[in-house]
Amino acid sequence: MGPGPINADPRVLRAMSAQLVGQYDPAMTAYMNETMALYRAVFRTDNEATLLIDGTSRAGIEAALVSMIEPGDRVLVPIFGRFGHLLREIAERCGADVHVIEREWGTVFTPAEVEAAITGIRPKILAIVHGDTSTTLAQPLDELGAICERNGVILYTDVTASLAGNAFELDAWGVDVATAGLQKCLAGPSGSAPISLSAKAVELVNSRKSVEAGIRSEGDAVSASPIRSNYFDLSQILDYWGPKRLNHHTEATSMLYAARECARLLVQEGMDNAVERHRLHGTAMVTGLSAMGLELFGDQSVRMNNVVGVEIPAGIDGDGVRAALLQDFGIEIGTSFGPLHGRVWRIGTMGYNARRDTVLTTLAALEQVLRRRGFSLTAGSGVGAALDFYND
Ligand SMILES: Cc1ncc(COP(=O)(O)O)c(C=O)c1O
Repeated sequence: MGPGPINADPRVLRAMSAQLVGQYDPAMTAYMNETMALYRAVFRTDNEATLLIDGTSRAGIEAALVSMIEPGDRVLVPIFGRFGHLLREIAERCGADVHVIEREWGTVFTPAEVEAAITGIRPKILAIVHGDTSTTLAQPLDELGAICERNGVILYTDVTASLAGNAFELDAWGVDVATAGLQKCLAGPSGSAPISLSAKAVELVNSRKSVEAGIRSEGDAVSASPIRSNYFDLSQILDYWGPKRLNHHTEATSMLYAARECARLLVQEGMDNAVERHRLHGTAMVTGLSAMGLELFGDQSVRMNNVVGVEIPAGIDGDGVRAALLQDFGIEIGTSFGPLHGRVWRIGTMGYNARRDTVLTTLAALEQVLRRRGFSLTAGSGVGAALDFYND
C-alpha cells in the first residue's frame, strides 16, 4: 500500500508465465499490434505511434527526451517534486539547455505560471510530470496543450504514477508525448514503459533517423545528427514496431505479455471506471486517515486519487511505524524523498490494491501501530469512517 510498485494483478502474473516467442513470430507481431491498439485506448489517443519501451518508466522518459532533444535545444522543466528533478537531470544529460521553474513541494503550477515561463524562455520542449509521486500531487495538464500549441512548443509529460488512476486525455489535452510504467495504477510489474507520440513528435524524431550499419539498406536514412542513444532511438524503435519490422532490440516477450494484459484488463473495465475506482478507494483511505486525526500533506484539491501524503505526527518515529506495519501486518507504506523524507508517509490505493478490503485492513493496522506508540486516537475511528463513506 505504498506509492508503487504494488502487488500485481494475478492475471498479469499468469500472462507472464506463457511460453516465449521471438519478435518476428506472427503470433508476436500480432500481440505487438494488439498492444499498440490497447494502449491507444489507455492513453486516449489515436496516435499510430503508441508502443512499449523495454525498461522501467525512466526508460520511457529517456527514450522520449533523448530522441527529441538535440544538444543545445532549450527545454523548460517545471519542478514541483522529485520527478521534475529527474526530467531536468535526463534533459541535461541529453545536452539540452535546461531552464527550470520551481514550486514548493506540496503545490503545483497554474497554467498562467507555465505560460509566462514559456513566453520568457521560448523552449522547444516543455517537459512536465503529471502526477509527482514524491508529493502525491497531480499537475493539471488540460490547459497546457493549448498553451504549447500557441507557442510552438512540444509538450512531453510523465504519467507513470497517474495513468489509469486519474483522468488523462492525451489527444483532447493536446499532449505530444506521454510515457508511463506498469507498476502503479496499471497493476503490473515494473519493466515496460508504454509511450505515445503525436504525428508532430514522430516527425521531429524521424528528422534525425539513422538506420544502423549492418541492417541498413540502399536509401535508408543516415543522419548527420543522429539520436544520441542507440537503445532508446525512437526513430528505429518506431520502425521495429511498424510495418517495416526493422531489426532492433530483442523484444522482452514476458514484459510485453504483462503490458498487454494490464491494458486489456483496463480496457475491459473501462478507463472511466478505472479512474472512478481509484477515486472511490483513495477517498475512503483519506476519510479514514482524517478521522484518525492525521494531517494530510499538500494541496488536497490536486491530490492524486491513488496516493496520499500523510504528515508523520510529532513525536512518532515514522520509520518505526512503517517497520511495524510490515512486520506485524505484511503491509508496506512509503516515506518520501528529499525535504519530505521522514516527514511524510505515502499511502497508496492503486492498481490491484485499489480495493475496499485493502483500504480497511490498512486503516485497522495503522490504528493499532499508532496507538501502541502513544498516538492518541479513538479506537476504530479510521475504519468506521471509511465504512461509513463506503456505505453512504
Ligand atoms: C512519476 C514517476 N516518474 C518516474 C518514475 C521512475 O520510474 P522507474 O523507477 O520505473 O524507472 C517514477 C517511479 O516511481 C515515478 O513515480
